[in-house]
Amino acid sequence: MKQKLIEKLKGKSAVIGIFGLGYVGLPLMLRYAEIGYKVLGFDIDQDKIEKLNNGKSYIELIPSRKIASAREQGFKATSDFSKASEADALILCIPTPLNKYREPDLSFVTDTTDMVVPYLRKGQVLSLESTTYPGTTEEEMLPRAESTGLKVGEDLFLVYSPEREDPGNPNFETRTIPKVVGGFTAACLEVGKALYELAIDQIVPVSSTKAAEMTKLLENIHRSVNIGLVNEMKIVADRMGIDIHEVIRAASTKPFGFTPYYPGPGLGGHCIPIDPFYLTWKAREYDLNTRFIELAGEINTNMPRWVISKVIEALSDRGKPLKGARVLVLGIAYKKNVDDMRESPAVKLMELLEERGAIVHYTDPHVPVFPKMRNYCFDLASINPTPDRIASYDLLLLTTDHDKFNYDMFQQHAKLIVDTRGVYLDSLPNVVKS
Ligand SMILES: NC(=O)c1ccc[n+]([C@@H]2O[C@H](COP(=O)([O-])OP(=O)(O)OC[C@H]3O[C@@H](n4cnc5c(N)ncnc54)[C@H](O)[C@@H]3O)[C@@H](O)[C@H]2O)c1
Repeated sequence: MKQKLIEKLKGKSAVIGIFGLGYVGLPLMLRYAEIGYKVLGFDIDQDKIEKLNNGKSYIELIPSRKIASAREQGFKATSDFSKASEADALILCIPTPLNKYREPDLSFVTDTTDMVVPYLRKGQVLSLESTTYPGTTEEEMLPRAESTGLKVGEDLFLVYSPEREDPGNPNFETRTIPKVVGGFTAACLEVGKALYELAIDQIVPVSSTKAAEMTKLLENIHRSVNIGLVNEMKIVADRMGIDIHEVIRAASTKPFGFTPYYPGPGLGGHCIPIDPFYLTWKAREYDLNTRFIELAGEINTNMPRWVISKVIEALSDRGKPLKGARVLVLGIAYKKNVDDMRESPAVKLMELLEERGAIVHYTDPHVPVFPKMRNYCFDLASINPTPDRIASYDLLLLTTDHDKFNYDMFQQHAKLIVDTRGVYLDSLPNVVKS
């Protein structure tokens, strides 16, 4: 069974099924289609399925022509999970958020697996890519897979391979990002390597699914803790009248032993604010507290409030209260050059500003209309930032440093800018660094 599946994967006659066609699943689908595999895409969002089948993209960084060309290669999207039996590889790229108690919400993964289980058959490989705590594949996927009567490692193969997509990063694409793979058994790992090795330049095998799960968490916790550290350093430096960005630039000239991390208005995106708490939750089962994670979380979560205090101070220095002030937020995506709004600190800032009586508008070349979000509702569209409009605001709050912004024009016409990203290097009379 194993050898037959490996041959199919290596000969590209295997059908690849991808579940969850979002920021992770869609680029992976494109990669498999590009190298000649037949790919089936599964999603529960009918709107996405229709768009994809009409050759249209819904992610700004993925052009529709790529979807259209995948369609020509035989790619099809569907919400009919019975078609899972047609796929030889089932790759799950499903959301793994936190619930309202900030605990892992694995329901998307377990629901999808439950929907797929009736269609599992001999000779398939099941790979989970969603970020999660160590043990998920063994504790959640394995019993479901074996409930079919199939034996994992003999009839069916189970792997965990974390996604490392970095949307908006021009230096890497799916092919060039090394891929960590862990198998439930040695045979599972062998199949897992065959699944990814034609699509990805470098495969990094590890000894277990747990090690692969922990690898992804280490990567994201490393970022979250270091961003927490540099955010704390920013607060200290600010109080001392030092520009943290100047310090980071200087420290970055050290050719060894220093990695720059950049402070900001708070953490954003689907990964860094969320994933570390998957480990926090699991560690409790082992009577352990994850203090670095909690501390970084506390500092990072408080950043928007610290930025608001700087906004209030900057306005008050010019004799203006925040209540009634006209504030334009520059950039509402969670990071530069993307249209992704998940967990964006800019939105938290908009909420805090409104709560304090400010009149808030935004401009973002990547987000023309404020989208529907789970926790926020703003009936706003991006304004066109003409010099006259810029001059009409009491304060510009620079929250996302998109390349498409005209920073010189902002600076020339704004009454006051609070810069949370260190865009303005010089000391300027109308710019407050925050
Ligand atoms: N976005 C990133 O940059 C990134 C990077 C690395 C890892 N990850 C991880 O990858 C996973 C997916 O993240 P994403 O950013 O692609 O999420 P996403 O929200 O962009 O996409 C998830 C897709 O899954 C679909 N979906 C939800 N429930 C489903 C179900 N039951 N069956 C089929 N489809 C379903 C949604 O409709 C959506 O299209 C998460 O675990 C995330 O932590 C994300």
